[in-house]
Amino acid sequence: MKENLESIKPDRPHIITSEIDAISFYRKMDTPATVVEMLAGRYVLIEEFYSNGLQVLSELKRNLQLRYRDQSFQGQRDYRSAFREASHRLLLKVKDNELVVRKCPNIGWLKILYPDVADFFISFPEVQGLNSSWQWYQKGVEINVLKLSLHPFYGTYFPTRFDHLLLFDKWLKAYKGPRNRAIDIGVGSGVLTFQLIHSGFLNIFASDTNKNAIIGVSQESLRLGMNKKINLSLGDLFTDCDFMADLIVFNPPWLIAKHKLEEGIDKAIYYEKELFPRFFEQAKKHLAPEGKLVLLFSNLAQVIGENNLHPISEELERHDRFSKELQLQRNVKQASTKTKRTDSRSNEKVELWILTHKGK
Ligand SMILES: C[S@@+](CC[C@H](N)C(=O)[O-])C[C@H]1O[C@@H](n2cnc3c(N)ncnc32)[C@H](O)[C@@H]1O
Repeated sequence: MKENLESIKPDRPHIITSEIDAISFYRKMDTPATVVEMLAGRYVLIEEFYSNGLQVLSELKRNLQLRYRDQSFQGQRDYRSAFREASHRLLLKVKDNELVVRKCPNIGWLKILYPDVADFFISFPEVQGLNSSWQWYQKGVEINVLKLSLHPFYGTYFPTRFDHLLLFDKWLKAYKGPRNRAIDIGVGSGVLTFQLIHSGFLNIFASDTNKNAIIGVSQESLRLGMNKKINLSLGDLFTDCDFMADLIVFNPPWLIAKHKLEEGIDKAIYYEKELFPRFFEQAKKHLAPEGKLVLLFSNLAQVIGENNLHPISEELERHDRFSKELQLQRNVKQASTKTKRTDSRSNEKVELWILTHKGK
């Protein structure tokens, strides 16, 4: 692992460390009137119970839904953006790295992510995000194919459905080639890298543009005793990778971005048009002559009605770099066994593509 990993500072939610001019909110106050003030630009500080924050957010939602009745895509986008803007003026106080309101969750991230400051204000929605992430981090995400749980760092993409991991596992078990060096682009929570090591690969180069992913995998690989086999790189695609690999694995974002991408988890979901051409161009140089390129993808874009071209098919049609050796598909299991999914996502399939150098 690279020496300078220690110096990477995680992305963390914005906080306010100065004094603020805010309306102090107590549970018996007039919630609709408070929300009107919040919408006019005032900060509101929850003073009593954590649940009072939920009370204000629910009133904010009601208020904005009356104003934003347009159900079109743009109308709903405007509603969400107004909600986001106003809800971030709802604040909680943190003292000695803990929330001070009553009946609040205990969130370890408030200490871990802010070693340099103990007292501050933070928005209620950011606290909700930190709380949910802390629950996952503590409880862990059970990865059955690996027979272990992963503890994803704050702000990192991690799998909540596992069909693509099962496809990869099935293919890895049948793979007959050398198991020396592999490259995992977009390491996320580290799951594919750990599958590679589990299946006998000796050395993995793993990159991600998300600082928190690199920090998280660095900690997880130490905990799992796999750190000596992993070289982590914070950066774009193959930056700092100076070898050719037997296997290159990439589980890219699955949806094309219609907005300007933000750093962090946004890039786990959405891709810019140029990502795939850049990836294939660089993969060509980093794949050993007999190597395999493994891509995990999904028909999600088609399922939700986005008619853009499939970026892997597009590569195969337009360029002379790779040939398709194999394509496997698997239906995505319902998130819950109790509710039958009736929405369009019930047609969702994950795909595993194996490409080789053209002419091989
Ligand atoms: C869908 S997630 C997959 C994470 C993990 N490999 C998995 O299978 O669960 C895609 C990951 O690629 C990363 N990523 C996106 N663009 C990247 C780029 N240009 N270079 C390196 N990593 C990138 C994202 O930050 C994210 O962690």
